[in-house]
Amino acid sequence: MRTWHVTRLGEPPSVIEQVDIPEPEPADGEVLLEVEAVSVGFPDWLMAQGLYHDKPDLPFGLGGESSARVLRAPAGSGLTEGQRVIALAGGKGGITLTSRIAATPDRLLPVPDKMSPEHAAVLFVAYQTAYVGLMRRGRLQVGETVVVHGASGGVGMAAVQIAKASGARVIAVAGGEQKAQACREFGADVVIDHRTDDFVEVVKELTGGRGVDVVFDPVGGDTFDRSRRIMAVEGRLVVVGFAGGTIAQAPTNHALLKNYDVVGFRMRPFREDRAYRRRVHDSLVQMYQAGALHPRVTTYDFDDLPAALELIGSRQVIGRVVVYPPT
Ligand SMILES: NC(=O)c1ccc[n+]([C@@H]2O[C@H](COP(=O)([O-])OP(=O)(O)OC[C@H]3O[C@@H](n4cnc5c(N)ncnc54)[C@H](OP(=O)(O)O)[C@@H]3O)[C@@H](O)[C@H]2O)c1
Repeated sequence: MRTWHVTRLGEPPSVIEQVDIPEPEPADGEVLLEVEAVSVGFPDWLMAQGLYHDKPDLPFGLGGESSARVLRAPAGSGLTEGQRVIALAGGKGGITLTSRIAATPDRLLPVPDKMSPEHAAVLFVAYQTAYVGLMRRGRLQVGETVVVHGASGGVGMAAVQIAKASGARVIAVAGGEQKAQACREFGADVVIDHRTDDFVEVVKELTGGRGVDVVFDPVGGDTFDRSRRIMAVEGRLVVVGFAGGTIAQAPTNHALLKNYDVVGFRMRPFREDRAYRRRVHDSLVQMYQAGALHPRVTTYDFDDLPAALELIGSRQVIGRVVVYPPT
């Protein structure tokens, strides 16, 4: 079976190579799966350089969650041959970008009939992160206004669509006309191109100086810092990530004076809570089936993983990248 390994740390794609690995032998209680599509994202690009908080031992595989079909399931698992599932990545550098994988049933989520493998492959990390970040940590309410930074990226796209589906007014911030256009297509009410406009000024004007209830920030650095100036009283500024590469320092006196919350958010503990992630999944499937979620994916064949990583590294991705397993 072919897969890609990161063989040394450095800028992809020069540090990855195709290797042969044995077919998985499912242990007792494990399910054998045929992979259909695998999501690959910013964390893969960072991990290959040793810049991600997870630092697997070399060599390691790339790829996040995958959509897959059950080939063989243990008796009593409730799974049937041919059933479609989302297989969650098994932790640090686990192999997902290959033709067959083995997983325990608790790492699987059901896929509804009409969802394509490409959409199923992006429904977990990006959409669950956006959902939990907005709804649980950000406490977003119907009728509130939210600013989504990095809105054309994987998590940002999901946040725009989920916030809209939840009855919020959405202001999306993205860089460049192509990304701004994508945010309009995702359903944002207002789109700000941060390359041409100052989001602080535009948001202040749009809200009559009141500010917004929630800021969803996967970018960090200066974006976080300036977002402090658009928080409404009792607003929630949700720290989702540092795609911009810098971690901002927040002066606590500003939060005191302006009465807003800075909310830290890490998906992992919520993701590891099996019952909770299933509830979030069911809510997302409901939104998807109602037509409120429409993931944008760019697909690559297995051999083209280097090109996929180049797209991610050059900040050109809109939505999510999906790579097919080897044929
Ligand atoms: N808290 C959690 O549990 C959690 C879970 C999943 C992901 N994350 C984090 O969320 C962040 C976004 O993930 P994602 O999958 O949505 O990534 P993505 O698809 O690559 O999107 C990131 C967005 O950030 C913006 N950006 C600003 N400065 C950038 C830079 N120097 N390089 C690249 N992008 C830059 C880009 O938008 P413009 O070009 O429009 O500015 C881009 O669309 C990452 O930092 C990731 O680690 C956090």
